[in-house]
Amino acid sequence: MSEHALVAEIGGFVDRTVTVQGWVSNFRSSGKIAFLEVRDGSGYIQAVLDIPALDAASSEALSQVTLESSVAVEGRVSKHPKRADVYELQASALRLIHRAEEYPIGRKEHGADFLLQHRHLWLRSKTQWAILRIRNTIIKATYDFLFGEHFVKIDTPIITASACEGTTTLFELDYYDLGKAYLAQSGQLYLEAAMAAHGRVFDFGPVFRAEKSKTRKHLSEFWMMDAEMAFCDHACSLDLQERLVMHIIQEVLRHNRGDLEITKRDAARLEAIKAPFARITHREVVRLLREKGSEITEDLDLGANDETLLAEIFDQPVFIEKWPAHIKAFYMKRDPQDPAYVACADLMAPEAFGELIGGSQREDDLDLLLSRMREERMPVEEFEWYLDTRRYGSVPHSGFGFGLERLVYWLAGVEHIRETIAFPRMLYRMRP
Ligand code: 4AD
Ligand code: MG
Repeated sequence: MSEHALVAEIGGFVDRTVTVQGWVSNFRSSGKIAFLEVRDGSGYIQAVLDIPALDAASSEALSQVTLESSVAVEGRVSKHPKRADVYELQASALRLIHRAEEYPIGRKEHGADFLLQHRHLWLRSKTQWAILRIRNTIIKATYDFLFGEHFVKIDTPIITASACEGTTTLFELDYYDLGKAYLAQSGQLYLEAAMAAHGRVFDFGPVFRAEKSKTRKHLSEFWMMDAEMAFCDHACSLDLQERLVMHIIQEVLRHNRGDLEITKRDAARLEAIKAPFARITHREVVRLLREKGSEITEDLDLGANDETLLAEIFDQPVFIEKWPAHIKAFYMKRDPQDPAYVACADLMAPEAFGELIGGSQREDDLDLLLSRMREERMPVEEFEWYLDTRRYGSVPHSGFGFGLERLVYWLAGVEHIRETIAFPRMLYRMRP
């Protein structure tokens, strides 16, 4: 067969004969013409087969084709008569690589449970394909942006001896003869150490939280990007977060128009996002939410219902700043004017997609940090290495972390976070 071409690059082959290899995602025939929709991972293309003109081997292959069979189709590339950027293959030959058994996922509606049990196949469905392509752009945009800002990627450990984000969501395991170990909830503490070597650092990898509740926004395993910056205060960190989020949105709009259409996400919603994002204190947000009927108080985190109400107040991402210290992590820096509060912010998505980023300026004073850890009854000896960052050249510094799946959830506009990762891990699901 002729030269192989990827569907994504097919526009460069107009009027030439190429071979596309892929899977049959749809087929129908009307009398003398058959239409095969073939997806090769990089895109979808329709192959048009003139049945009477086919050679014997191609006719036989056509008669054997089933949904999701793998095939090679050779044909001349033509532009779609009506739709720009759409191409067709005027097929001259068809080979069956593997004839698929009857495919369990059909065109009829399946329940979520059935689809999740068949996640390994469900991934091939168009919407799922588009969601993971948007995820891919977000990953690349994040790396590009951070490398452009002189960040160095540090791969922080997954097996750890202590908790970063409190002890309620820890996954525990036995570590040889050394006792209990825990799966990392965030690489932040290790990044703070690496920051003193490299100035600006980030990690981007899987983290684990035993979230014993069923929500649309929580996974037990998700991908977090943590960033940590030396000589950067709270305001400097918010500025960087804002620029990163705007860069990611621009890249998704640039590369994933077609995917957004497939996920039925109105791109205008994303085009409307403008920096700078609003900044509002936790106390003020509590006041606004209570006005709307919420029962939140000044010492509480936002609940799911509050996120819905918040979306009625703001139609843009919003930073909720300055939280009461006792409901936030031990490492956050006290507000010197108002020590009951910490210099931190959660970035909330519009449209009730929830928290995208958690970040803060870090407590850089050894004694204040220690007193906070003792208040929280933390095993200080386990954190001696971390405290060294405050003993040897402590500097003002800040950092933040986003959940990759939360960004996909919001930008792709999906209904449930489980569709934003290839193989979701949740309270009631660890297979496939
Ligand atoms: O707000 P979190 O807990 O912050 C941290 O872990 C900090 N150490 C980050 C840092 O400063 N370097 O988590 C960060 C983000 C959240 O804003 C949210 O986007 C996401 O991680 N996240 C989850 N995503 C999916 N499933 C879960 N169970 C999540 N928990 C947090
Ligand atoms: Mg948070």
